[in-house]
Amino acid sequence: MRILAIESSCDETAAAVVEDGRCVLSNVIASQAEEHKQYGGVVPELASRRHCENILYVVEEALRQADMTLDEVDAIGVTFAPGLIGALLVGVSFAKGLALATGKPLIPVHHTEGHAAANYLLHPELKPPYLALIVSGGHTRIAAVTDYTVFETIGRTRDDAAGECFDKCARAMSFPYPGGLHVDRAAQQGNPCAYTLPRPKMEGSPYDFSFSGLKTAVINMLHHAEQVHEEIDRNDLAASLQENIASVLTEKAIAAAKEYGYKTIALSGGVSANSGVRQKLLQACEKEGITLYMPTIELCGDNAAMIASQAYYNYLAGITADESLNAMASKELHGESVAFVGKGSSD
Ligand code: KG4
Ligand code: ZN
Repeated sequence: MRILAIESSCDETAAAVVEDGRCVLSNVIASQAEEHKQYGGVVPELASRRHCENILYVVEEALRQADMTLDEVDAIGVTFAPGLIGALLVGVSFAKGLALATGKPLIPVHHTEGHAAANYLLHPELKPPYLALIVSGGHTRIAAVTDYTVFETIGRTRDDAAGECFDKCARAMSFPYPGGLHVDRAAQQGNPCAYTLPRPKMEGSPYDFSFSGLKTAVINMLHHAEQVHEEIDRNDLAASLQENIASVLTEKAIAAAKEYGYKTIALSGGVSANSGVRQKLLQACEKEGITLYMPTIELCGDNAAMIASQAYYNYLAGITADESLNAMASKELHGESVAFVGKGSSD
């Protein structure tokens, strides 16, 4: 089954064709990052406009690269939540139009679940049950994936997502948008032990995360240094921040895997591109005899191939939609509200 999927939840307009949820026939991404850079983060209205301009070209290009016509596609998948509402609406409206015009099934995909599915595109042997660690600009979550469409949340962030913490600290450190990548590069030249940063204790919820205190500590440290004309080494601070985030993510994921009896962890989301996170988690998994799956760097960030993969499994589970499908800025995922904060939001 060949699914054409569309992703437009933030600042990437993306379309892809994937066969049977696993084989990527095309994966086209038009990133707006360069344009949003001048504002220090994503400007929602601008993102919506660019999606409108790009979407037809991106979908046509995905079909061209897959060497297919729309007639040869079996279904249309689309990210419907969570994300920037205006941005999501462009993809959802376009996908509904395609499904209506062709009579093909329309399959709604939750963006967070899509991220987890990125690993299916690279690791044919990966199958539920496993533990997913999904870390992006808007989400930080540990979930037990008991079936392809069943995500049981074990822990999630109480405030900022890890990517948001990277981005806001990066901005305070005067790195350009997107900040996470620049912190990663700077961290490779720095000393991770140079600065002591706080590690929150989550009383009663050991697998939940909180990154807002860390963000505030970094911002306060920079402000204080400026006031007293003290030099802060950006590379050292970047390394200390990265070490902190990588340790928190790794320790909680490993502890959850042990407590819930999982021998497989799949990391995904934009922050899974972080070299410190990848290295620390890999070392810990090797030590504990846990198999770790990670996407290649290209599939860590937002793309439509991962949406097409999850769409395939949603379709098999009977999850389809009609023309009443609507975009949702936040969406319940197994019991709790998943509010979208967004990567590097310009506010
Ligand atoms: O998955 P994604 O593209 O969008 C959301 O769904 O939010 O994730 C974007 C996030 C941003 O916060 C970005 O700074 C972060 O992923 N990111 C990184 C790296 N590459 C992207 N964070 C740390 N290190 C990186 N190398
Ligand atoms: Zn994402």
